Amino acid sequence: MKILAIESSCDETSVSVCEGREVLSVVTDTQIAEHKKYGGVVPEIASRRHTEAISRITKEALKNANLSFSQIDAVAVTFAPGLIGALLVGVNYAKGLAYSLGVPLIPVHHLRSHIAANYITHKDLKPPFLCLLVSGGNSLIVKVNDYTDFEIIGRTRDDAAGECFDKSARVMGLDYPGGVMLDKIATEPDFVKFPMPWPKVDGCPFDFSFSGLKTAVINTAHNLNQKNIPIDVSVLSATVRKRVCDILIANTLAAAEQEGFTKIVLAGGVSANSELRSRMTEECKKRGYELYFPEKKYCGDNAAMVGVQAAYEYNSGNIAGTELNAMATLDINYN
Ligand code: KG4
Repeated sequence: MKILAIESSCDETSVSVCEGREVLSVVTDTQIAEHKKYGGVVPEIASRRHTEAISRITKEALKNANLSFSQIDAVAVTFAPGLIGALLVGVNYAKGLAYSLGVPLIPVHHLRSHIAANYITHKDLKPPFLCLLVSGGNSLIVKVNDYTDFEIIGRTRDDAAGECFDKSARVMGLDYPGGVMLDKIATEPDFVKFPMPWPKVDGCPFDFSFSGLKTAVINTAHNLNQKNIPIDVSVLSATVRKRVCDILIANTLAAAEQEGFTKIVLAGGVSANSELRSRMTEECKKRGYELYFPEKKYCGDNAAMVGVQAAYEYNSGNIAGTELNAMATLDINYN
């Protein structure tokens, strides 16, 4: 089954053609250069750019797969969660396309597709497994019982790990997207020079809280600025990176132990973080756990992961009608 998949939940317009776990083509138009000027994504601009790009990107993806519209068996689209205006562009385009081609329309949850990014590289990976899903807007520990059966056992009470990275980077004067830059520039952490909290959520050992850590970095930077002391950006970056990883890794391993998982999967934009990958690899090796993470090119938003997840959604009967709407927020276990 050849699925044409569309992703427009944030600042990447992406279209892919997939067949099972095989990616026949993927074309992604990033808006980073434009949003960089504002230090973050401007939703209104994102929607307009998606509108301009989506037809061209779709034609390119089809061309790269050596296929014509008539050879597509289904259209899939990210419908939630994300920036509402941005999602609506993809959803409406997908609806029109599916209707005109007379093929099924498959709605795909954005976070489910981040998990599915792993299936592209790891062809033998099958649920059940435990997933640490960390992106710009979400930080979750999820039991993936089956391809369309999810149970959240840990979540952030405030900011996501990606938000903590991005805002820390911004206050240090690093370019957008901050998390990527912070990871590149980080050297050795120093908790004596830059004390950082390790916030815990009472009674919920797998939940996260990153807003206190984010505030600690902002206060540190402001204090230094007020005293005209230059910020040691490489060390502060390494210190915040280490603390975010400490928290993510400790909670994930505790959840794996309590829930009896020996197969762990990382997903979402933050799963590209070099320290998270290397420390998780080490910790899992020590415990004899299997660890999977996506190829870097599939960690961020892309339509290939949407197309791969769509096949499982289709098999479980998740097909939308023309009334499909976009949603800014929706839990991963919505059905
Ligand atoms: O999954 P994603 O591309 O978009 C969302 O669905 O949110 O995640 C974007 C987030 C941003 O916060 C970005 O800074 C972060 O992933 N990110 C990283 C790295 N690469 C991307 N954070 C830390 N280290 C990285 N190498």
